Amino acid sequence: MAEEKPRQFVGSTEFKKGLEGAITNESSISYVDGANGKLIYRGYSIDDLCQGGGGYEETAYLLIDGELPKRAQLEAFKKDLAGRRAIPQPVKDLITQIAPNTHPMNTLRTAVSMLGCLNPKEFEVTVENDLDIAMSLTAQIPTIVGATQRVRRGESIIDPDPSRSLSEDFMHMMTGKDPDPRTAEVMDMALIIHAEHGMNASTFSAMVTNSSLTDLYSSICAGIGSLKGPLHGGANEATLKTFTEIGDPATTEEWFSAAKAKKQKVMGFGHRVYRAYDPRAVIFDPVAKEFAERAGTGHLYEIAKKLEALVVADLGGKGIFPNVDFFSGVIYNAMGIDTDMFTPIFAVARIAGWSARILEYLPDNRLFRPRAVYVGDLEAQYVPIDER
Ligand SMILES: CC(C)(COP(=O)(O)OP(=O)(O)OC[C@H]1O[C@@H](n2cnc3c(N)ncnc32)[C@H](O)[C@@H]1OP(=O)(O)O)[C@@H](O)C(=O)NCCC(=O)NCCS
Repeated sequence: MAEEKPRQFVGSTEFKKGLEGAITNESSISYVDGANGKLIYRGYSIDDLCQGGGGYEETAYLLIDGELPKRAQLEAFKKDLAGRRAIPQPVKDLITQIAPNTHPMNTLRTAVSMLGCLNPKEFEVTVENDLDIAMSLTAQIPTIVGATQRVRRGESIIDPDPSRSLSEDFMHMMTGKDPDPRTAEVMDMALIIHAEHGMNASTFSAMVTNSSLTDLYSSICAGIGSLKGPLHGGANEATLKTFTEIGDPATTEEWFSAAKAKKQKVMGFGHRVYRAYDPRAVIFDPVAKEFAERAGTGHLYEIAKKLEALVVADLGGKGIFPNVDFFSGVIYNAMGIDTDMFTPIFAVARIAGWSARILEYLPDNRLFRPRAVYVGDLEAQYVPIDER
């Protein structure tokens, strides 16, 4: 057996991989109650926010400002966002050039970076200026994602229409059609439940980046880069690909046995914090059924439910249950949205959470700087190159 290397780190060497359970800061933005499967934004349950009728804009206001808006405040906030939705021509040109040949999350990351290049106040790092940029990005990311979907389908970019709500306009800019009221309502709900989720990987990435007092565009690009990965936001895409690969509800068990034999993780299950059902999956389950039946893709929902039963029977004891990404893909697919656009939709929502966290941390900013336990040599003898 190989001898374990001594740890050279001076001081406490107790750590958990992936910073599991580590506390980074204090926050009053959201609470992920992993044991009971609850998600609270500023004291309000996501169920109440979804049913409240204030839409994604109300949730974005709540997360960023800290309080629920009064009617006049919400109207002013919506008007402000609607007036910021347009993207400059160079960004449209960029999307036209790169979107056909790269993943939409790369297009989004690059377009956000370009917006920073075009903002002369990019480097003014104050709460006031970062709030201004956050508002613009919350308004412009849906436009970038809508344009990306259009260009990838060989269609022309549709400019925003400030008379529509953010989610209605987003759907219109993606599909060229006015969504029916139920589709608009569900997209709004999807944006609400994806808007914020504690100190997840993309939020932490964005906050770490911002803690060097760099510009907000760079921090949001870091968040987008992290969200793209299959262990985080990219799981929604991977989950629908799993359902498509299974193809037929009758072969679900066979697929799962093979996945288990290969010790393959099943996408859309498990979570670092939830040891109970993810409350967002609970909200999405009946909606996925409704939309799949409506779109004639009921077999995908049936596969999802069979896979859920198999995984929960096998791993539920370890606290492995469906997460938010398990049902969202079935819904977006039924809405006619391309699979690789699912994670960008997550970003359309999460910009509110990223912004709120960064703005909360900024006034009393301290550079994030953890350490690693050094397990390498300390007294290696240098050998000249010709003598090695
Ligand atoms: C989200 C995720 C990264 C959390 O990971 P984590 O906190 O590091 O949890 P671990 O990987 O340590 O999992 C604990 C145990 O459950 C198992 N497990 C976790 N998620 C699993 C999954 N999706 N499928 C099968 N087994 C899973 C692990 O293999 C591990 O088993 P072990 O104790 O025998 O080693 C992980 O559950 C995962 O990769 N899920 C799939 C991707 C996904 O859906 N991501 C979206 C999250 S919202």
